[in-house]
Amino acid sequence: MKRFPLLIAIVVLLLSSCTTKGTFEVADKTFLLNGEPFVVKAAELHYPRIPKEYWEHRIQAAKALGMNTVCLYIFWNYHEPEEGKYDFSGQKDIAAFCKLVQKHGMYVIVRPGPYVCAEWEMGGLPWWLLKKKDIKLREQDSYYMERTKLFMNEIGKQLANQQITRGGNIIMVQVENEYGSFGTDKPYIAAIRDIVKDAGFNEVPLFQCDWNSNFENNALEDLTWTINFGTGANIDDQFRRLQELRPNTPLMCSEFWSGWFDHWGAKHETRSAEALVSGMKAMLDRNISFSLYMTHGGTSFGHWGGANFPNFSPTCTSYDYDAPIGESGNITPKYHEVRNLLKNYLPKGQTLPEIPDSIPTIHIPAFELTEVAPLFENLPEPKESATIKSMEFFDQGWGSILYRTQLNASDEEQTLLITEAHDWTQVFLDGEKIATLSRLKGEESVKLPPLKQGAQLDILVEAMGRMNFGKGIYDWKGITEKVEIQARNETKELKNWQVFNIPVDYNFAKNKKYKKEESVTKQAAYYKGSFTLDKVGDTFLNMTNWNKGMVWVNGYAIGRFWEIGPQQTLYMPGCWLKKGENEIIILEMASPLKSEIEGLRKPILDVQRGHGAYAHRKLGENLNLTNETPVYTGTFKPGNGWQHVKFGKTIDMRFFCIEALSSHGGDDYSAIAELELLGEDGKPVSRRHWKVMYADSEELNEANNIATNVFDLQESTFWHTNYSTTTPKYPHQLVINLGENKKITGFFYLPRMEANKTGMIKEYRVYGKMQTFRLK
Ligand code: GLA
Ligand code: CA
Repeated sequence: MKRFPLLIAIVVLLLSSCTTKGTFEVADKTFLLNGEPFVVKAAELHYPRIPKEYWEHRIQAAKALGMNTVCLYIFWNYHEPEEGKYDFSGQKDIAAFCKLVQKHGMYVIVRPGPYVCAEWEMGGLPWWLLKKKDIKLREQDSYYMERTKLFMNEIGKQLANQQITRGGNIIMVQVENEYGSFGTDKPYIAAIRDIVKDAGFNEVPLFQCDWNSNFENNALEDLTWTINFGTGANIDDQFRRLQELRPNTPLMCSEFWSGWFDHWGAKHETRSAEALVSGMKAMLDRNISFSLYMTHGGTSFGHWGGANFPNFSPTCTSYDYDAPIGESGNITPKYHEVRNLLKNYLPKGQTLPEIPDSIPTIHIPAFELTEVAPLFENLPEPKESATIKSMEFFDQGWGSILYRTQLNASDEEQTLLITEAHDWTQVFLDGEKIATLSRLKGEESVKLPPLKQGAQLDILVEAMGRMNFGKGIYDWKGITEKVEIQARNETKELKNWQVFNIPVDYNFAKNKKYKKEESVTKQAAYYKGSFTLDKVGDTFLNMTNWNKGMVWVNGYAIGRFWEIGPQQTLYMPGCWLKKGENEIIILEMASPLKSEIEGLRKPILDVQRGHGAYAHRKLGENLNLTNETPVYTGTFKPGNGWQHVKFGKTIDMRFFCIEALSSHGGDDYSAIAELELLGEDGKPVSRRHWKVMYADSEELNEANNIATNVFDLQESTFWHTNYSTTTPKYPHQLVINLGENKKITGFFYLPRMEANKTGMIKEYRVYGKMQTFRLK
């Protein structure tokens, strides 16, 4: 009893020492951490993209790189898979993640959305919001705002106590995300700010991030403003406008893009280490804070990868991002270059910790998956529906959906028209596959042979990630409108469907009637097999025998694969493998070459198959402008940044062509980062229905410089004419089908972002007309 007071004293001392309270403030041209000037050097890491078992490894690698902070998004749909059911356990335990960061003496910046973009399914918004057909996302829709508030309060319960003022390590919290590339709506941003504050985040600075070209549109007086841009950008240019408006604000690049993400079917993206290091150095020398997006990208496991907008292009499972810490936590050459820089900017007396050891890798010899469960023999109970509806209205979020109906007899050839199938569709007639339609290519119709009465039509639609950018966030899956049959004299909508929901859950996959098969089936099927390990380690599942689908190992959803690449292997974390027997299930939507798989020691992220499918010019095709009259002829200024051009008249057009005639650098190339066409009100018109009809040349081998980059809303991506296989000379032409009739008065042009590079267009001509341009 006598020792009791002493015990209490010790306990009190211990408690107070592990909850040292601190402060983080925005002051005159600097941030202050506990009253001292502080430059944020943040590593962007995403907890769902790293197996929990490896969180600490990646945090240590970020620390040894020279970072003092971890910046993270919170992914709403990851925590609220069903309306009102929140999950913060295990892999989703964000408080545990932040505490682990604190254990290593680092701070945390939280970006709780509600929208996060991040190449994540629907930009982090839960799919079930789409069950309200007329919902307005990222606007003051009452239901959307109510759900946002409830979610944010849950985040508050998890993390508000982790603010630095309460002894935790959270120093800043972001409000919304890059709203400027979505719209202009200050009242909405103010409402989200209040929701974030009401959730308890009112003791550390709140900030907004945007691009330098649009941050003013939604900037609130009481928030800190930060700018996002990528490797290669000119640092002074990026902050010029911000410094004019707020000469005393501390500067921060809240996303400095170290690399970029990959799209299925397009070239693997990389960015040079040299440009990255020189940009970081420029910022450090000016005491500019930054977050390196990504420092370690990791993997969009399972079905979590998103898709880009407006040209629907789903993102790969690997989120390697060409970041300094590779997808599997491997230390890359880029890492060493960044580390060599950052070691010169440490607080006095500090040195960098050792780089943590890499996780060992293993090779798994090829083995066969011997059990098969064909999808059509394993369908769930159907639902009846008179009309077509998207999968959300059958209460399904992810996976595939099968629509079945019977057709009337016909002895003429007819056309089946599907409006719109999201995203990868196979059409079967009496069980035989007759077509595959890909949303990537805008395919939507199928020729039907003569039919006998009651022929069975099956339309199997596989959903890929929901678009995570711009207005693309309204991305209902399955068939969104209708299915019609076009005969010579009439077009009829098909009715009375049986609908089968095929979710992408492990539980759904494992309970199938598997049977031993000698040969592979020609149609969608689940394949099951097992392999035995005497030691575990990271490995890369080689999917080159397989076509398209999803993999589960020991119940973990590993991710999507697709033969078109550029990703050909799937990262298989060793921590999810075990000594002894391991189970693997593959849902193959088409048909494998052979049902064999192996584990490699190195990933294959850069092999495209079916190459050239995305080029916007067919072999031998040429644009014929000889009888066309330009609506405008001009000369662009040299240098970076947006340029505005007014025609001085209004042109009716559905087809727009820019013909580049020469370059500022005297090189043979043309490049354009973004193009906006202006309506009669002088404002950009919607680019929603735009399609590239023709580009005389594109660089698709060395880089993903596809022509659609001119309207992907990303200032850092651009169209560039080919330099790897041919070097076509000027003139260069790009034709865009606007998809609707427009009255156009001018355009905005953004050259590529980096200084002193090729493809800076000088003289040009513009054409615009209602009819299509002639190709010969
Ligand atoms: C923007 C978004 C991020 C991410 C990057 C591209 O900056 O804010 O979420 O999508 O683009 O990787
Ligand atoms: Ca672009």
